Amino acid sequence: MTLDSKLENTKAVIRFFVPVKKKSFAGTIVLVTGAGHGIGKELAMKFSEVGARLILWDINKRQVEEVEQTIRKSRHKDDAAKSYVCDVSKVENIKATAAKMRREVGEVEVLVNNAGILHGGSLLEILWPSKFKENPNELMYKGINPQYKERND
Ligand SMILES: NC(=O)c1ccc[n+]([C@@H]2O[C@H](COP(=O)([O-])OP(=O)(O)OC[C@H]3O[C@@H](n4cnc5c(N)ncnc54)[C@H](O)[C@@H]3O)[C@@H](O)[C@H]2O)c1
Repeated sequence: MTLDSKLENTKAVIRFFVPVKKKSFAGTIVLVTGAGHGIGKELAMKFSEVGARLILWDINKRQVEEVEQTIRKSRHKDDAAKSYVCDVSKVENIKATAAKMRREVGEVEVLVNNAGILHGGSLLEILWPSKFKENPNELMYKGINPQYKERND
């Protein structure tokens, strides 16, 4: 066992007895992609329950607007959620939507890059659907904010 892994194990034992303080998401700006349906929608609803301000991106206008309305009504606050139609497989679309979002809401603090396509095929195709010419996460980093990746807080 290396010194690094011993240190990591020691930290894990300490964390077990002295849990880290839970982060509060109240007021935090959270962007969820693919928020119109499925896992993205459920995550958006959960973040809303803990007081986050939701930015919802989806390719499907009707669905994402429905989620926006549900969150606004449940919180009785118009600024609790803001939806945008965006195809996250296109970096220019991401950049344009991100610029609009920054002007209208602010800087994203938490990114849940959930949008994607689930289908069968080779392992590479499953991990990296052909609609996405590049790694979907790299696309979002490039489109949203080059410094975002470095922040990692
Ligand atoms: N459901 C599962 O069992 C499962 C398992 C493994 C991985 N995943 C992954 O989790 C993610 C969500 O899965 P889900 O089951 O909730 O999917 P879903 O089909 O229920 O919802 C996906 C949402 O993403 C949106 N979307 C699709 N392509 C988009 C694009 N290019 N730009 C913006 N929005 C887009 C859709 O309109 C939809 O609202 C996907 O990336 C999927 O590959 C799901």
